[in-house]
Amino acid sequence: MHHISSTLGVPEATYVPRHVAIIMDGNGRWATQRHLPRVAGHSRGLDAVRAVVEACAARGVQYLTLFAFSSENWRRPADEVSFLMRLFMTALRREVVKMHANNIRVRVVGDLARFSPRIQQLIADAEARTAGNTGLTVTIAANYGGRWDLLQAMRKMLQRSPMLDPEAVDESVLAPHLAMAYAPEPDLFIRTGGEQRISNFLLWQLAYSELYFTEVFWPDFDAAELDKAFASYRQRERRFGRTSAQVVAPSGLSGTA
Ligand code: FPP
Repeated sequence: MHHISSTLGVPEATYVPRHVAIIMDGNGRWATQRHLPRVAGHSRGLDAVRAVVEACAARGVQYLTLFAFSSENWRRPADEVSFLMRLFMTALRREVVKMHANNIRVRVVGDLARFSPRIQQLIADAEARTAGNTGLTVTIAANYGGRWDLLQAMRKMLQRSPMLDPEAVDESVLAPHLAMAYAPEPDLFIRTGGEQRISNFLLWQLAYSELYFTEVFWPDFDAAELDKAFASYRQRERRFGRTSAQVVAPSGLSGTA
């Protein structure tokens, strides 16, 4: 499928964001506030993932992308990393069955070579099993980093055409090699947990995304919080570099489609 680039063209602004990308932050602080071990926050975080996946499917979102584990998260204490790996495996086993039953397609992006063969197998199984589903696409960014993505895309591009004329390298030559080339750019980026950072998430694709930050910790983020983010999104005027006057009769933001 071909999607309009936000820098080469003007993508349609729809009433419901087509692609929502989320940094799920604040699990540790949620737990610490309750005198629980940090990992209890991650377990509750998985419950929040379930709720938000359901809510996005119900609202007609086409792509939901979740930052589950960054390239930098390996720096955490070993026991927290191994807990997150086990949680990831549990999710791939149990949740994928439910998502498949709901016509949800599961994809995983990131440098997967660093994961155990068992996790890599579960990822391949989850993707293969749900490949034919036509509803919401849930992308899990795992050992993902925006810089990693740009570099692997450049490597692939050069492997494909080693004699490439530098002048010929434009967006349309590079972008197809990005890990999420199958999806339109995120319309809405959400980060929970109070920090206002991109943290090496989708660097290329967030060029014109609307950014929404909330103090709410991820385990407390639910359908009602998602609706707050969507309401904020609908207030935004998506100009994509144009003037306000040029943004006449927006095809979506104030409409109903
Ligand atoms: C950030 O909170 C969260 C993570 C690093 C892990 C996210 C994982 C989940 C929500 C559960 C698993 C999800 C899937 C899709 C399998 P933090 O630990 O940085 O919180 P803090 O900033 O309060 O310390």
